[in-house]
Amino acid sequence: MVASLSGAQIRQTFLDFYAAKGHKILPSASLVPEDPTVLLTIAGMLPFKPIFLGQREAEVSRATTSQKCIRTNDIENVGKTARHHTYFEMLGNFSFGDYFKEEAIAWAWELSTEVYKLPPERLIPSVFSEDDEAFAIWRDKIGIPEHRIQRMGAEDNFWASGPTGPCGPCSELYYDFHPEKGDEKIDLEDDSRFIEYYNLVFMEYNRDSDGKLSPLKNKNIDTGMGLERMAQILQGVPNNYETDLIFPIIEAAAQIAGIKYQKAKAKTKISLKVIGDHVRSVVQMIADGITASNVGRGYVLRRLIRRVVRHGQLVGIDGAFITQVAETAIASLEVAYPEVREREKSSKLSWSGKNRNS
Ligand code: SER
Repeated sequence: MVASLSGAQIRQTFLDFYAAKGHKILPSASLVPEDPTVLLTIAGMLPFKPIFLGQREAEVSRATTSQKCIRTNDIENVGKTARHHTYFEMLGNFSFGDYFKEEAIAWAWELSTEVYKLPPERLIPSVFSEDDEAFAIWRDKIGIPEHRIQRMGAEDNFWASGPTGPCGPCSELYYDFHPEKGDEKIDLEDDSRFIEYYNLVFMEYNRDSDGKLSPLKNKNIDTGMGLERMAQILQGVPNNYETDLIFPIIEAAAQIAGIKYQKAKAKTKISLKVIGDHVRSVVQMIADGITASNVGRGYVLRRLIRRVVRHGQLVGIDGAFITQVAETAIASLEVAYPEVREREKSSKLSWSGKNRNS
């Protein structure tokens, strides 16, 4: 039996596990990145990029975070697939020139099987095709039968934060929803069978603008576990949206529309899922000081708000409803990100202040 945990417990369990392994728990960085190459924080490693590149000294050699992230490259798939999101949280453990592949793999396995209690026979690791060292660790130290360790090409198992910058081979952990299908034909691209939930990046290169790789000053570890994905696995629900991290927002929207999610048509369910996803983005972006506009980050926010309004209309909601569903999102997010509630209060104060003055 897997551990039965709420989203908040999964997050805290991850941080506590790595704190016990000597990692400092650091707060999530803002969604507005210092890094000028991206509009929004897209991964847990982003705040640490200058450390990986040797441009900034690390204050600690091991850190763990729950990082709020937004990626909008798959926005059209949100609600249509089981696990595409704009807003998601990445749980990460990081080594800045301290431990490397052996510990990263051993701890990912220990956390997965002993703490979250995922059955080992349901877990499949992948490695970069040329990474014999990671392959050997999975086989010899962890004891995974060779035929279950999947070698994959650079498009899947060589991770980089962008066209240039820190990068390295990675090893991913997949959960098998259908182990009864056997070991003969393991196709990790089959997302009705497998879900990738943990990516261990062995961050040891810098890629320059000519595509040339050179070794970084240190060998580092950058990992990312998808909180929503782990919640789907542990909560035994058919998609990320029906986890306790997002479903209350969906139910709040359905209630305003006077409908029931479980009885709704497929198209209506998609709209409710879009609302559930986008409202979390909107809340976190506004809490981090972004305002709607027609350029840059502000445009992303405006687009998300417009999509929430449109999908609200599609499910039959008349009139304004975002603040109501936002309250449900804030109540869930404030557990890990207290700034969301604090800034909700201060924005209300400044709002009423503005009204008084006008
Ligand atoms: N940076 C890697 C990712 O985003 C692991 O954290 O998947």
